[in-house]
Amino acid sequence: MRIDILSAVPDLLKSPFAHSIMQRANDKGLLEVVVHDIRDFSTNKHKQIDDYQFGGGAGMVMQIEPIDRAYKFLKAQRDYDEFIYMTPDGKRLEQKTCNRLSLKQNLIILCGHYKGVDERVREHFVTMEISIGDYVLSGGELPAAVLVDSIGRLLPGVLGDESSALTDSFQDGLLAPPIYTRPAEYNGWGVPEVLRSGNFKKIEQWREEQAYQRTKKRRPDLLKDWDEE
Ligand code: ADE
Repeated sequence: MRIDILSAVPDLLKSPFAHSIMQRANDKGLLEVVVHDIRDFSTNKHKQIDDYQFGGGAGMVMQIEPIDRAYKFLKAQRDYDEFIYMTPDGKRLEQKTCNRLSLKQNLIILCGHYKGVDERVREHFVTMEISIGDYVLSGGELPAAVLVDSIGRLLPGVLGDESSALTDSFQDGLLAPPIYTRPAEYNGWGVPEVLRSGNFKKIEQWREEQAYQRTKKRRPDLLKDWDEE
């Protein structure tokens, strides 16, 4: 999979993909993330990519022209499945969207900045608008990193343990059950006996029950879908 990110602050995205699982995905050739500085596509001699709002109002607006030029540059090289705009007024990101996007070949992600982007970019180029939650960040770079990470870890071969992504919270509509590792006792705090019993059927039942109880307590909203199935 290839993901091209268009950003006004590309340096913000240097680190997130250079470590750990995302780096491994890149090293294995499973995920290529290319970050582009939108300023490189400005025709303005000061490399300006934003301007004042028509009609007045506080805050600068990202201009359509450099984004159009960047998009044309990319489209000339390959077809893209989605042009995603990261914005707090987009659709809230959920696991099922990550799952769906992980099946695509090529994605573009545009990071919003300043007050946002000229509406014509959203009308004519953008195919998906994604928010990572109901709060406002200073730009779309961190949200883009969140999205790429959430997709990248789902690509076959990226996670060492193949079953690992499937047992994540949300994958079956429930939160994940509690987990433990050695030592079996610490400060007098033990590990549930069943997990040390070696009885895999019982362990599975315990995990399912714990996942259900945890979801009921912390995220009862998730159970609405689950109980209906
Ligand atoms: N840009 C600023 N805040 C954002 C958010 N919550 N989600 C996506 N993009 C954003």
